[in-house]
Amino acid sequence: MTPRHPPHHTVLLVGFMGSGKSTVGPLVATDLGWDFIDVDARVEARAGRNVEEIFERDGEPAFRELERRAAEEALAGRDRVVAPGGGWAVVPGRLESVGPEVLTVWLDVSAATAVERALRGGPPRPLLSVADPVGRAEELMEARRPFYRKARLHLDADASSPERLARDIVRTVRTGRATA
Ligand code: S3P
Repeated sequence: MTPRHPPHHTVLLVGFMGSGKSTVGPLVATDLGWDFIDVDARVEARAGRNVEEIFERDGEPAFRELERRAAEEALAGRDRVVAPGGGWAVVPGRLESVGPEVLTVWLDVSAATAVERALRGGPPRPLLSVADPVGRAEELMEARRPFYRKARLHLDADASSPERLARDIVRTVRTGRATA
């Protein structure tokens, strides 16, 4: 059957901190034989300091500009799974500006799960370093959902394992149909 969309040569993962982008992304990349690009890692390499330090010393707007550039470079290639941080998609028109060869995927997660995962593992998240991280995550998610929703494929990252999520994404890339 002919895919209804142009073949995808890139997967772009969006979703809140702790939604599993950095876990699911490498699984998808390995399965497809593509590269995995963690945009935060690129920003850190470029800046010579980690995200927490960039937020502290240069401020969030400086981080966002570095993030914008690193994501743009990553998306200029192909055969890639690209995972920007959870704030990248939260700019009007940003997800819509991505071409049809890029499969955009929202890993949707609850605030409680996101905070539990984000605080248990991975790098420090400056935006969640507050007295009530779940409350903060709920507020941020409420504001961000309309942006994440623009992704073509929506997956429930609370209910499914990383392996299952990766399988759904790979199947969508291969069939060209977002049936999951
Ligand atoms: C952020 C998410 C983080 C990182 C920074 C800001 C956000 O990445 O870019 O702490 O605004 O949601 P992860 O989504 O990979 O945790």
